[in-house]
Amino acid sequence: MPRPLRTSGASAAGPQSAAAPAGPADGSAAAEDAAIVATALTKQYGTFTAVDGIDFRVARGESFGLLGPNGAGKSTAMRMIAAVAARTSGTMRVAGLDPERQGPAVRARLGVIPQQDNLDEELSVRENIIMYGRYFGLPRRWLRAKTAELLEFAQLTAKAGSRVEDLSGGMKRRLTIARALVNDPEILLLDEPTTGLDPQARHILWDRLFRLKERGTTLVLTTHHMDEAEQLCDRLIVVDQGRIMAEGGPSELIRAHSTREVLELRFGMDRNAELAEQLDTLLAPRAEPLGYSHVEILPDRLLVYADAAESALEAVHTAGLRPMTSLVRRSSLEDVFLRLTGRSLVE
Ligand SMILES: Nc1ncnc2c1ncn2[C@@H]1O[C@H](COP(=O)(O)OP(=O)(O)OP(=O)(O)O)[C@@H](O)[C@H]1O
Ligand SMILES: [Mg+2]
Repeated sequence: MPRPLRTSGASAAGPQSAAAPAGPADGSAAAEDAAIVATALTKQYGTFTAVDGIDFRVARGESFGLLGPNGAGKSTAMRMIAAVAARTSGTMRVAGLDPERQGPAVRARLGVIPQQDNLDEELSVRENIIMYGRYFGLPRRWLRAKTAELLEFAQLTAKAGSRVEDLSGGMKRRLTIARALVNDPEILLLDEPTTGLDPQARHILWDRLFRLKERGTTLVLTTHHMDEAEQLCDRLIVVDQGRIMAEGGPSELIRAHSTREVLELRFGMDRNAELAEQLDTLLAPRAEPLGYSHVEILPDRLLVYADAAESALEAVHTAGLRPMTSLVRRSSLEDVFLRLTGRSLVE
């Protein structure tokens, strides 16, 4: 049974379950049990290709990430999912529907958090949610109760009557998320949900997103924060220049593309290239016991990739090399990205 285009007061009483029947549309089993299926998805702006024939599939209830640097095509892909940008070629199903042909029906099932907050600054916090709900045709009385629930969820109850322009950046972001939940979306699209927020505000948001996921909402998010991707995503694609570089769970990607640990060394900017060679000469003969792979040169430090980074550090000290600082850490998605693209993701 197709869902109604507009969420009625009665059916919008709680979040929609992930197990709810899929939409109609193309009738294929694969599309029916997936939240999103994109095939050879492409977006060109004139002769420039922003999204270059990518394939991905997001299961219902999954938390799926697009990780990539500035300009990778993440927002462009999100806009095509959200039925606000037309694709140049390829196919796309969102909840079994084609966003281009069934835009309003797709939008009714989505909650969209764009990269830039687009709240109405003139209105109060409460009115922002109510106005947005009216856009979906939700009844006023029902919306009043729903808005109170969402403000509580976003920890903005005390600010309900404040004008949006008086909110902090983190509060605005939480309001944008609360607003996107007004229609109890099956799928929540979050374009860099926590960029610009302080660590505490980020953790509050992560907690809220985690709760939504527990309730069965499908989350699709873009980020260039590794920790965010590692915390929130069951699975992700690493995107660069409109193409998928790798796909998998965070720990799976780290296992496939990096060593278990990394040794970070600082010798001073001007000595990095020279020291990198020395380190490689030192460690390459011990590749086996150390699980040594290679050295990366960053502008401010060297990254020594080795499963046993502590032992690699001992070897460095024994050889008489004296770094100014040293740090042993586990590999992260940042290392995966660096390995795959030769570039660092950290701004
Ligand atoms: N409307 C547009 N017209 C022309 N080019 C565009 C348009 N929108 C995006 N682009 C280009 O497409 C590429 C991908 O942009 P997009 O906004 O999708 O990147 P992103 O991965 O979201 O980056 P960021 O991390 O900076 O948000 C960029 O090179 C951008 O300049
Ligand atoms: Mg973007």
